[in-house]
Amino acid sequence: MNTSTDAVDAIKENALDRVLVLEMVRVTEAAAIAAADLIGRGDEKAADAAAVEAMRKAFDTLYMDGTVVIGEGERDEAPMLYIGEKVGGAPGKGPKIDIALDPLEGTTITAKAGPNALAVLAAAGEGDLLNAPDVYMDKLAVGPGYPEGVIDLAKSATENVEAVAAAKGVKPADIIVCVLDRPRHADLIAELRGIGCGVVLIGDGDVAGVIAVTDEDTTIDIYMGQGGAPEGVLAAAALRCVGGQFNGRLVFRNEDEKARARKWGIEDLDRIYKLEELAKGDCIFAATGVTAGSLLDGVKKLRGGTMTTDSVVMRASSGTVRWIKGEHKVG
Ligand code: FBP
Repeated sequence: MNTSTDAVDAIKENALDRVLVLEMVRVTEAAAIAAADLIGRGDEKAADAAAVEAMRKAFDTLYMDGTVVIGEGERDEAPMLYIGEKVGGAPGKGPKIDIALDPLEGTTITAKAGPNALAVLAAAGEGDLLNAPDVYMDKLAVGPGYPEGVIDLAKSATENVEAVAAAKGVKPADIIVCVLDRPRHADLIAELRGIGCGVVLIGDGDVAGVIAVTDEDTTIDIYMGQGGAPEGVLAAAALRCVGGQFNGRLVFRNEDEKARARKWGIEDLDRIYKLEELAKGDCIFAATGVTAGSLLDGVKKLRGGTMTTDSVVMRASSGTVRWIKGEHKVG
């Protein structure tokens, strides 16, 4: 047995988590810095385009054979980072990695200089991330420490609040639920307020909204409601790393959306997905704050040409969470 060859093989096998885990932050940092120039400028498209281009370039510096499985759209609708696009600087040589990304999660937030815009990605082994179509997803999430199965998307909002309250040892009226502020959630919000819950309404950015349930400082106990399915996979990857439970069910508004799901291999359209069905195996989640929020600080431009960034990178196999402050010389 050749020990040094074994060691090299082990490093190769662990490339996803050992080498790329920290490198992924460069990619989200690059996107966040690029988008930061557009904060508060009222131009969602320009902010998104800047983040996409910077993220695309940053991927090329990584030793990997990556494939975008959740990205900016299908090939005919997105010039860069489209689903199926190869990314990374070692095609055919580096480790095969599937990537789910959102270079700017919160385009409207960024345009309006609101809270919680992120540059975000998840990476996993080939075939380990659900190829979620760009449709809505019903989402239900709680943080770590609850008995498995405490939440169930097949049950009503009231039943879920009651179950979480019982497990937490408090009254349903003490439970705080985060919901996207949308007309489609009027009945849900009325039901939650009817049983006395506190409802935290967010304007956008449900990746940060879901992750907020894992941080007791936010006081948010449950995330509920419909948001983008791609964002659901990204949030699920984060919860795989830090703990918590997530239920997601795709929501189809028409036959075209159903056809798109079938095209990506989704047969059971009513299925309730749990964490491991959205992000399997050893996945990585990385995010850099664009604007300040509950998870991360935003990009700051300091006098003298320095920029600071605030990022987090997590890994499912170890549960390690690294908070990374960056100082970048610009110009
Ligand atoms: P964008 O960055 O694409 O604007 O997404 C923001 C977001 O709020 C997501 O966090 C959320 O999943 C989705 O939009 C909700 O969609 P909608 O605005 O159609 O309700």
